[in-house]
Amino acid sequence: MTTPQPFSYQSLFAKNVPVTSRSQNPRVKYDFAVAYPDPDTLPLDALADALRQALDREGRDLAYYPHPAGHPPLRSLVAEKLARDRAINVTPDDIVLTSGSGEAIGMLIQAMTDPGDVLLTEEFVYLGTLRQMRRYGADVVAIKCDDQGIVPEELEATLKRLLGQGKKVKFLYTIPTFQNPLGWTMTLDRRKRVLEVTQEFGIPVFEDDCYVDLRFEGEDVASFHSLDDTGRVLYVGSFSKIIAPGMRMGYVVAPPEVMERAMSFKAPSGVNQFAALTIEEFLKNDLYPHIDEQNQSLRVKRDAMLASLGENFGDAATWNKPEGGLYVWLRMPEGVDLAALQEQSFSEGVGYYNGTMFSPDGSGANLARLCFGHPSAQTVSDGIAELAKILTRHGALGG
Ligand SMILES: Cc1ncc(COP(=O)(O)O)c(C=O)c1O
Repeated sequence: MTTPQPFSYQSLFAKNVPVTSRSQNPRVKYDFAVAYPDPDTLPLDALADALRQALDREGRDLAYYPHPAGHPPLRSLVAEKLARDRAINVTPDDIVLTSGSGEAIGMLIQAMTDPGDVLLTEEFVYLGTLRQMRRYGADVVAIKCDDQGIVPEELEATLKRLLGQGKKVKFLYTIPTFQNPLGWTMTLDRRKRVLEVTQEFGIPVFEDDCYVDLRFEGEDVASFHSLDDTGRVLYVGSFSKIIAPGMRMGYVVAPPEVMERAMSFKAPSGVNQFAALTIEEFLKNDLYPHIDEQNQSLRVKRDAMLASLGENFGDAATWNKPEGGLYVWLRMPEGVDLAALQEQSFSEGVGYYNGTMFSPDGSGANLARLCFGHPSAQTVSDGIAELAKILTRHGALGG
């Protein structure tokens, strides 16, 4: 018998692998932290019918591995949807289905980023994207925004400064519609100016449009992709917000030379065919009525949140009025530390995410994202009142 050597995985890990938690947030009574849809508005019956029909027709195909780019008929329907809703004219071959748009975002970041490269974002940005950018060693630089979107002069000045320093800038990532976490929608003028500036400096725009269908007020604004005819806009979308995150289905649209490289970073063998078949069938008849229903419910919840903020925060804070999406961005006076109070607030039953979590440079402790998508309207209203009580108890409000 040989004696086994002492063993540890520590010396075996690849260089620079971060340790990532597998835990989920604790469930709290009033949860404004998570970006989930309302479980009561999920189209479960229609999805069950869609699955039954899809399996009757094509279930035997589950015996095979799916197409590497994802179920072709679903890609055709995505192409039709993009043409109809976003004036994006691409073929199914320009689209790859992904496990949520999170996978698509990761693919593009990995295909385009060497450690030290600059990736530009809005002033505050979706946490999942920020994490992936950092994971692959990007220098993430935030561009100042106002309530109309990215400020083009700031973008121009930042690009001049960075390029003057010899930095390599790879793309500008934007969530132009119902921005996460800021809630605004970038105006058409701003989109055009931002596109002009990026084109002047020779960098592409990476447009993340995952909230665009959740509009319950106002008019749609043209996509960056539709404003560009030079192939310099990369685009991702998702079914998470209009069907359910649990379906794990998103997609990426990119020119062939980008896609060929991005595919190297995709999990092999396409996407979950079971989900793809279901969504294909659901899309044919049920998607748009479902979106309408969901948006009516979201509008009521947004109104409940705004009314309760008015009643309980008065002029001690400011906030925006989003025309869609899931987020209200709360601004407390400088010096109020919502970052320090976040855990305490969770433990007292109200969840929110403070601004520093979304900030490339770690600023924003007096800011918070409040998501109104998951709780019922009554719970939204009660929860905001409870948040005000917690902040008052801990000296952050009133007094
Ligand atoms: C802006 C943005 N992009 C992408 C995603 C990823 O969503 P999924 O991977 O579920 O499509 C999210 C999730 O909240 C998001 O807010």
